[in-house]
Amino acid sequence: MSKQTTINDCKIIDLRKIHDPRGNLTPIEGGVDVPFDIKRIYYLYDVPGGESRGSHAHKELQQLIVAASGSFTVTLDDGTNKKSFNLNRSYYGLLVVPGIWRDLDDFSSGAVLLCLASEHYKASDYIRDYDEFLRYKEV
Ligand code: TYD
Repeated sequence: MSKQTTINDCKIIDLRKIHDPRGNLTPIEGGVDVPFDIKRIYYLYDVPGGESRGSHAHKELQQLIVAASGSFTVTLDDGTNKKSFNLNRSYYGLLVVPGIWRDLDDFSSGAVLLCLASEHYKASDYIRDYDEFLRYKEV
C-alpha cells in the first residue's frame, strides 16, 4: 500500500559483479536481483550540469535506479523524512518503492542513470504536485 511506505522501505541493493580483466559485468534479473519483474528499462543521459530531474512520486511503480556511468544524487522523501543517496558505482542499485517522492540532481558529466521499472509507462501513475503528494500520504 503506497500511502504507507517510508524511505526505510527503500534500500541500496549490492548487485552481483563479475570481475574480469577484460572488463567487469553486472547482471540484473527480475525476481532474482530485484524484487519485481522488469517490464521497462529507460536511461537518462546528456543531463546538462546543474540540471535536476524527477520531482514526482509514483503510486504503483517500483524502480531500481543505477548509476551505470558517472554519478548523481537521489533524494527520497516519504512526506515525513528525507534521505539522499549519492550513486556512483555501477554495481549499486537503489530500490525505490511506490509512494516515495524523488529528486535527482548533482549529475556528473557523462552520467547515465539506468532505471529498471516494474510497470510500463503510465502517466496516471505519477504524482507531480508536492502538495498533492502530501495529501496522498495523509501527512
Ligand atoms: P519523467 O518521468 O517526468 O522524467 P524525470 O523524472 O526523469 O524528470 O519523464 C519525462 C518525459 O518522458 C515525460 O514526458 C514522459 C516521458 N516518458 C516516457 O514517454 N516513457 C517513459 O518510460 C518515461 C520514464 C518517460
